[in-house]
Amino acid sequence: MRGDELVAGIARRLDVDAGQVVIGGGSISLLQQTLVAYTGPGTEVIYAWRSYEAYPIIVGVAGAASVAVPLTDECAHDLEGMLTAITPRTRAIIVCNPNNPTGTEIAQDELVAFLDRVPSGILVLLDEAYWEFRTDNLDGVEIARRYPNVVVFRTFSKAYGLAGLRVGYLVTSSSIAENVRATCLPFGVNAIAEAAASAAWADPEHTARIVSAVTNGREHLESALVELGVPVKASGANFVWAPVGRHARALEAECVAHGVSVRAFDDEGVRITVGEREAENAVITAFGSYLHTTTLDEQQAHHKTVSRGEGTVT
Ligand SMILES: Cc1ncc(COP(=O)(O)O)c(C=O)c1O
Repeated sequence: MRGDELVAGIARRLDVDAGQVVIGGGSISLLQQTLVAYTGPGTEVIYAWRSYEAYPIIVGVAGAASVAVPLTDECAHDLEGMLTAITPRTRAIIVCNPNNPTGTEIAQDELVAFLDRVPSGILVLLDEAYWEFRTDNLDGVEIARRYPNVVVFRTFSKAYGLAGLRVGYLVTSSSIAENVRATCLPFGVNAIAEAAASAAWADPEHTARIVSAVTNGREHLESALVELGVPVKASGANFVWAPVGRHARALEAECVAHGVSVRAFDDEGVRITVGEREAENAVITAFGSYLHTTTLDEQQAHHKTVSRGEGTVT
C-alpha cells in the first residue's frame, strides 16, 4: 500500500531507517503534502525567487503565505536574506539545491551555517530534484542525519528519466516522515511506477551513464555559450541558465526558429535543458546568429525586494 519494496531499497542504499523514507507521486506531491501537514492559514513559507515555479502554487494550496526572497546578483540563494525574512509565523523554508532554473549550488559550509541559525521548530525543505547532476559534494541525506528539521526531496523524474511515471521520495526524521505518510493516499504510487523506479534504483551504472552524458552536454553548452559572450552561470543541474534579461523572448524565438525549444523567463533569462548533441548545437547556432546582430547589454533583471503573499489559493 505504501510502496514498501521501493522504500526498503532506498533506505538500504542511503543507510537510513525505512521509517525515514516516504515515496509519492513525484517529489512535487511530497513537497505539497509536507506543506499541507505542517503549514496552513496564518503561517508563512520562505523560498528563494526565482526558483521552481510550483512553490508559490503549493504554498497557496496549503493555505500559507509565500515569502519570496530574491536571488543574489549571482543568481544564487540569498541565505542571509532568507534568515532575515523569518518571522514568528514562519513554519517552513524551501531551499532548492541545485536551483531551478539557475542551476546554482549552495556550498556545504554555507548550508550548515544557515541551518545552525534556523530555529529548530521551522522545517527546512531541501529540494534536491537535480542532485544527481551536482558538481559539489553536498549531500542532503547526510545533512538530514544531523538536523532533524531537514526534509530532503529527490525524484526519479530527472536523472532516472521516469518523469511520466511520477515517483519521488523524501528522507527525514522518523517523526516528520510519519506525519507526511499520514497524508499519503493508499496505493499513491502505482505498481508499474514502483516497479520501474525499483529497477532504475537497482542499476546505478545505468544512471551514472545518463548523468555523465548529461554533464558532458552541459559542459559543451556552457563552454560554447561562454565563448559567444553569453554570461552563463556554472550549473549543477541538467540545464544551463543564461541570464540575458530583456533578450529572453527573442532568444527563445531564435532557438525555435532553429528547431529547438528552450524556456524563456520574461526579462530574466533562458533555461536550456541539456538534450542530444544535435539539439545543443542548434541552441549554440541560434545564440550565435542572434548575437551576430544584437549585443547582450543587460544581465538578469530580478525583483530586488522580498515579496510577502496573502496566503490565498491562487
Ligand atoms: C526543483 C524541482 N523540484 C521538484 C520538481 C518536481 O519533480 P517531480 O514531481 O517530477 O518529482 C521539479 C520538476 O521540474 C523541480 O524542478
